[in-house]
Amino acid sequence: MISLKVNGVERQIDVDPDMPLLWALRDLLKLTGTKYGCGIAQCGACTVHLDGQPMRSCVMPVSAVGSAEIRTVEGLSGAAATHPVQQAWIELDVVQCGYCQSGQVMAAAALIEQNPAPTDADIDAAMNGNICRCGTYPRIRAAVKRAAEIKRAGTAA
Ligand code: FES
Ligand code: FES
Repeated sequence: MISLKVNGVERQIDVDPDMPLLWALRDLLKLTGTKYGCGIAQCGACTVHLDGQPMRSCVMPVSAVGSAEIRTVEGLSGAAATHPVQQAWIELDVVQCGYCQSGQVMAAAALIEQNPAPTDADIDAAMNGNICRCGTYPRIRAAVKRAAEIKRAGTAA
C-alpha cells in the first residue's frame, strides 16, 4: 500500500510502486481532470502540483511522491468557489477543445504563486512546456495576467 496526500486528503492505494502518478490519480482515485497527452513529459497535459511545484505526473512513479502534497485541478480552488486562474480562464474564454487545459491551469497557478506580476517573457518561459494543439496561447497569456491581477486584488470568488 502507498499513501498519497491528494487535495488535502490522505489516500491509501494498493498499487505497483512503479505506476506513474497520472494513472494512480485517474484510474485508482478517479481524478480524471488530469489528462494523458504524450506520456513522456513533453506536453504538460498531466501537470499537477507537488508541494506547489508543477510536475509531469506521467513520468513520476507513485513511489517517488513520498510525503509531498499533491494538488490536482479538482482541488485547485480549495475552499473557494474558483481559483483566480479558473476565474480568469472563464472571463477570457480561453478554452477551445479543453484537452490541454487542466495542465495549462495548473502551470499558470504555480506561476502566479511564485511571480505575482508575470511579464510576457515570464509567462512564455513558465508555460512553454504546455502544448495546446488548438493554439490558445494568446488567450492563455492574457488570462495568466488577468489571474495574477485577480490574485493581487484578492477578488477571486
Ligand atoms: S502526458 Fe505528461 S507531459 Fe504529456
Ligand atoms: S484547448 Fe485544445 S489542445 Fe488546448
